[in-house]
Amino acid sequence: MYNYTNEQLESMKKVEATRQERCGKLHRRLTAEEKDAVLKEYHPDYITSAYEVLKVGPNKGEKVLHELADVLQGKSRVLDMDIDLSKPDYETDVLIIGAGGAGSSAAIEADNAGAKVMMVTKLRIGDANTMMAEGGIQAADKPNDSPAIHYLDAFGGGHFAAKPELLYRLVSEAPDAIRWLNDLGVMFDKMPDGTMVTTHGGGTSRKRMHACKDYSGAEIMRTLRDEVLNRGIPVIDFTSAIELIKDTDGKVAGAVLMNMETKDILVAKAKVVIIATGGAGRLHYQGFPTSNHYGATADGLVLAYRAGGKLLYADTLQYHPTGAAEPTQIFGALVTEKVRSLGAQLVNKNGEAFVYSLETRDVTASSIIKECSKGNGVKTTDGQGVWLDTPQIEILGGEGTIEKRIPAMMRMFGKYGIDIRKEPILIYPTLHYQNGGIDISADGMSTTIENLYVAGEAVGGIHGRNRLMGNSLLDIIVFGRIAGKSAGKKFKEVTLKDLTLDHVKSFDKELKDAGLNPEILSPKLLPNYTKQPAI
Ligand code: FUM
Repeated sequence: MYNYTNEQLESMKKVEATRQERCGKLHRRLTAEEKDAVLKEYHPDYITSAYEVLKVGPNKGEKVLHELADVLQGKSRVLDMDIDLSKPDYETDVLIIGAGGAGSSAAIEADNAGAKVMMVTKLRIGDANTMMAEGGIQAADKPNDSPAIHYLDAFGGGHFAAKPELLYRLVSEAPDAIRWLNDLGVMFDKMPDGTMVTTHGGGTSRKRMHACKDYSGAEIMRTLRDEVLNRGIPVIDFTSAIELIKDTDGKVAGAVLMNMETKDILVAKAKVVIIATGGAGRLHYQGFPTSNHYGATADGLVLAYRAGGKLLYADTLQYHPTGAAEPTQIFGALVTEKVRSLGAQLVNKNGEAFVYSLETRDVTASSIIKECSKGNGVKTTDGQGVWLDTPQIEILGGEGTIEKRIPAMMRMFGKYGIDIRKEPILIYPTLHYQNGGIDISADGMSTTIENLYVAGEAVGGIHGRNRLMGNSLLDIIVFGRIAGKSAGKKFKEVTLKDLTLDHVKSFDKELKDAGLNPEILSPKLLPNYTKQPAI
C-alpha cells in the first residue's frame, strides 16, 4: 500500500463510506450561467497577471502568457551565425518539421502524392504528445451519430470560437481517418462481431470515442512510425529546426537545422515546409505540471512567428482536469478522461461528489480548482487535489473492467503500491494542450506565409477556445493528411528564388525598435530542469 498521510487516509475513508450511495447517481449538470461563472473565477486562462501584450510580430497588441511571450519575442539562435544558404546540406520537395502523429500522417500522404519527403525531429520519430495520448479518438461513425452532431458538440465545447471551415473538415473526415488507421493496422478495441467499441468523453452527446484500451496514442504512433519507416522516408533525428528560411519572394523555402548533439548547423532547402511540432506543455505555463512529452516547447509557433506567421487564440490553454496529484513521482501525468467515462466520480475531501464528471474539460478543471480553493481539497506532496473514485468502475462495469479497459492507469499507479481497483486516486488539473497556434486555411496552409503548411497541435482555431477529448488524436490525423496531400500538390508548382534569412534580421530590428533586447534564445527546444545553462 502507498504511504498516504493520516489526513489522506482519513479522507479516503469518507470516500469509501459514500461510494455505494453515490454509485450510478450522476451529479447535476451546470447551467450555462454557472459554467461561465466558474470559468471566469477559476480557469487559469482568466488570470490576467499571467499575461502580457506582445510588442512585435504578426500578433502585436494581443495578450499571451509570459512564458510564450518570452520565446515568441526571444533571440534567434542564427542571428550571430554566418550561414551559407547557397550550399544546402539537404534538398527536398517537402520538409516536415516534427515526427509525431501529425508529421507522420503528412509524410505518408505527401509520399503517396509522389513528393520527395524528409522529416526532421529534435528527438526521435514518435517522441511526441501523440505517443502520450491515452483515451481515444473521436469519429461519428455509428448509426445514431453524424458529423453534424459531432460538429455541434465540438463547436459548443469550444465556446463557438472554432474556425467553421476547419472544424467542418475535422468532423467530416473523421470516419475516413478511423478507416485509414484501421487499414494501416491500428488495433482498435472491437466487439466480437468486429464493430468498434465507443465511449463518451466530456461534452459528447454520442459515444464516439474509439480507443486502443488506454494506449490509444501509443498504438496509433506505433502504426504510423512503422509505415513511415517501411516506406523509407528519411527521418533526420536529434536535429532541430531553429529557423525557417525564405526565398527572396518571401515564400518559405526550408529551414536551418541544428544537430542536438554536435550543435552542427545544417541547411535544408525545400519547396514546401510543414510544421508539425506539437504543443507547449514543457513551457510550464503559470507553473503548472504537464502531461506533455519532453520536447513540447512551442518551437513551431516561434519559427512561424518570426517568419510572419499569424497565430490564432495563442492566449488559451487546456488544463486537463485529471493529472496525477500523488505520488509526487508522477505529478502532472495524465489520468485519462476515460476513467471518468467508465464511471469514476470526482469527490472532495469529505467524500462528496461536487461536479458532473463529464462536463467539458475547462469547466471540470475549473470546478476542481474551485473545490480546492474552498478548502475541500486534500493536501498532497506538491499542493492539493481531489479524489477520482476509481473503484466505482468495477462496481458499475463489473470486476475486471479496469484491467481490461484502462490497464495503463492500473500499471502507472500500481508501481507505487496504489491499486486503483480498490482505492481512489488523487488528481489535480495539469497543463495538457495548446488550444491556440498558427492560423491556417482549410487546406492546411498558413494564412500569412506562402508554402508553409501546419498540422496537429501547432495549429490554432480547429477547436476554438477549448477542445473535447479525442479531437486531438483526430486532428493530427485529419490535418496531418490534409497538409501532406496539399503539400504533395503544391511542390509541383514551386520554383524557388535565392534563399534568405533577412526576415530574422527584420524581426530582430523590430525587437530593438520596441525596446526589447532579449537574452532568451528561442526556440527553446528542450526544457531545462537542471542548474546547468540551457542549450
Ligand atoms: O484524457 C485523455 O485521455 C486525453 C485525451 C485527449 O486529450 O484528447
